[in-house]
Amino acid sequence: MTDTTHETADVLVVGSGIAGCAAALAAAREGSDVLLLTKAERPDDASTDWAQGGISTTRGDPESLKEDVLEASDGTADPAAVDVLVENADDAVEDVLVDTLEIPFDETDDGEFDYTREAAHSEHRILHVDAATGSHILRPFLAHVDDHDRIEVRQDTAALELIADEGRVHGVVTDESATGHPIYAGTTILATGGIGALYGRSTNPEGATGDGIAMAALAGATVDDLEYVQFHPTAYAGSEAQRGSKRSGEAAERDTFLLSEALRGEGAVLLNGNGERFMEDYHPDAELAPRDVVARAVAAEREATGEVVLDVSPLEFESEYPGIAEKCRDRGIEGSEIPVAPCEHFLCGGIDVDDRGRTSLERLYAVGECARTGVHGANRLASTSLLEGLVWGLRAGEDAAATDATPERVEAPELRDSDPDLPERFAAEKFTRLRRTMDEYLGLERDPDEVARASAVLRRLKGEVDAYVRTRTARDLYELRNASVVALLIARAASENEESTGCHYVVDEAEEETTDPEPATADRP
Ligand code: SIN
Repeated sequence: MTDTTHETADVLVVGSGIAGCAAALAAAREGSDVLLLTKAERPDDASTDWAQGGISTTRGDPESLKEDVLEASDGTADPAAVDVLVENADDAVEDVLVDTLEIPFDETDDGEFDYTREAAHSEHRILHVDAATGSHILRPFLAHVDDHDRIEVRQDTAALELIADEGRVHGVVTDESATGHPIYAGTTILATGGIGALYGRSTNPEGATGDGIAMAALAGATVDDLEYVQFHPTAYAGSEAQRGSKRSGEAAERDTFLLSEALRGEGAVLLNGNGERFMEDYHPDAELAPRDVVARAVAAEREATGEVVLDVSPLEFESEYPGIAEKCRDRGIEGSEIPVAPCEHFLCGGIDVDDRGRTSLERLYAVGECARTGVHGANRLASTSLLEGLVWGLRAGEDAAATDATPERVEAPELRDSDPDLPERFAAEKFTRLRRTMDEYLGLERDPDEVARASAVLRRLKGEVDAYVRTRTARDLYELRNASVVALLIARAASENEESTGCHYVVDEAEEETTDPEPATADRP
């Protein structure tokens, strides 16, 4: 039996990154009572806290930012969605980040904002706080929503299922009771972030298990563009060890960390194992080429020459980027050459939404990385993710409040807690298998035969996971269920798209045979 105790909220927000906070704030400003649920226990359980480079503005020139977004996406971004982004960018940043939260963005000696530039941006237009912008935004934002009279923030609480009936969503079932705790809401906004936990190396926190995407897809929401998984070109190469996590029970060693694109934007260069710069051979914009191009070039040069380093000697590295410099020191990296490798970073696709974050299901919204607004197309421009989360979070929160929908108490999904005999390391071992499959077959390059193999492995895995999820209300099992649902959706999207675009790079086997063993030529003009 489902727990009969239940709660209601006008607007229910699931997730506590910038998009969730913005949605909660906007709905509360409109007079709604908001419940913000998050499985996070600390700010750095949300990807926003990990964001380094900054948040793009238009600096009064929306057309120029629009052109860069479209160009980085290889022409695949939706121009109407990009218009929404660029037309609302500066107001949203000024209202929430500058006036309300008073984020201490870096300034020049003249007291003006010190705008930086990243790859594929034609202008210096990115606001930042050294290269730790996400945590400088998120922590005050969380404190602000937590203090708000109309917002209750509940941490360490996972939504396990949506309560849906005939195409309309009425809230979620949480893990606050062994048989599931229903929370009914007039409107529900998913802001659950990305999918980094599906890969061995990611710049996301380990809780990025695709929860919102899986729950929405299982409830029948439309999802799109899931093959477009963005890899950041310059994460610390580390020891290439698999991610450690509480899920796997291994020591939580996070060997990798991001080396922000802002470093290249300000002059850092990439060198291969022979000490040569190589990016000009791949793209006229060299180190500032679109992210997918740089990521594949770095992977190819690592394979061909043994390693790639980011040479930060042209920068005032220690004083301008103290957070990243400290991470380097902690790992014993000496000198100005930091070994780098591509690493999963951001999902460009997700739950399909319109210009206000409305999904294909009534009363369900999605914002931030779990949503597919159309802004990123096949490849996201740097420093647009915080901006997209902020803009769409505000718009969705406002729209959700305006619906003035009353929570309806339909029957909630029944969760069970009946089988105590779950093998102890079940979730950890299945997660390891899932990540290996994603790393091997659904990484930077996709070979159609390998994608088919991945689909078969993932289907089997999901079958095994489903059998246990039906018997036990455990957060790690639901996270595994969510990860396996999203992994399968990625595999399906990759198999259905035969065209190489942006982050989805299809290896043509015939071409591979003729060009091997010179993989470094894969991207060369
Ligand atoms: C970075 O700092 O390189 C990441 C910025 C982003 O992903 O938008």
